[in-house]
Amino acid sequence: MKHLLKLLDLSKEEILELLNLADQLKYERKHGIPHPHLTGKTLGMIFQKASTRTRVSFETGMVQLGGYPLFLSANDLQIGRGEPVQDTARVLSRFLDGIMIRTFAQQEVEDLAKFGSIPIINGLTDFCHPCQVLADLMTVREYKGSLEGLKMCYIGDGNNMANSLIVGGLKVGMDVAIACPKDYQPDKAVLDFANPTGKFTMTDKPIEAAVDADVIFTDVWASMGQEGEAEQRRIAFAGYQVNDELLGAAHPDCMIQHCLPAHRGEEITEKVFEAHANEIFDEAENRLHAQKAVLVKLLGSR
Ligand code: CP
Ligand code: NVA
Repeated sequence: MKHLLKLLDLSKEEILELLNLADQLKYERKHGIPHPHLTGKTLGMIFQKASTRTRVSFETGMVQLGGYPLFLSANDLQIGRGEPVQDTARVLSRFLDGIMIRTFAQQEVEDLAKFGSIPIINGLTDFCHPCQVLADLMTVREYKGSLEGLKMCYIGDGNNMANSLIVGGLKVGMDVAIACPKDYQPDKAVLDFANPTGKFTMTDKPIEAAVDADVIFTDVWASMGQEGEAEQRRIAFAGYQVNDELLGAAHPDCMIQHCLPAHRGEEITEKVFEAHANEIFDEAENRLHAQKAVLVKLLGSR
């Protein structure tokens, strides 16, 4: 594993190895055991979009691993003024030991990996959010003990989160059911991967997807960059909400997960969100441990 560009590139074994390493790093952190695996290493963090969790987890994670995180707002880089990604990749490869990038087009992340010579980590694109889903799988495994055979349900937009959850869930042996409006389905590459597994279903009826679910995920109706479509999306997604009625169809011990930020009253009710807040904020904390596992795996010597 040279990069983390999308979960489609990873094997089941590679995903599980990252989750195991994340568990170990979490244990060490909780017990005050230092783990300076990245002493002397520098991570560049390029952000074309806003972030709370991704920035803070990678930044503090690098410090805890003994390395140095360099925050690079795209607005302040020449890339923001049109310097080609091919050149940016080759220049930054001379200075840094790895790059984490949050941007719009998946192609930009793939190009950084193609033209650069250091590990590239996808911190969210319009296509996928692999770092988040590693933390999500880690959290579900913490609560449920294992992942194989569990039913994952996703309600809402067939967006970057849906794409990564479908691929990640199926790769680790979960059944995945999603409910989304017909005009907002996941990416074709994801459906082409998912459909032949025989463990994937897609419907436009949320209750149908939630039946017997062990964990229900949702995400915002309008993602970063789609602010102009918010009104149209509010209409299209009415009914695609995680609420008590939906939970009634799920397994009695069903978990709720949300990558955050959440829009209460839209994709999830205040009541369900607060009733499952521990699970949701454990998920947020696990960004730190899961991202440190990715950093150690890609930038470290192990
Ligand atoms: N879930 C997530 O990626 O959060 P941020 O946008 O705050 O990084
Ligand atoms: N789908 C959301 C996820 C935020 C973490 C977005 O792209 O804005």
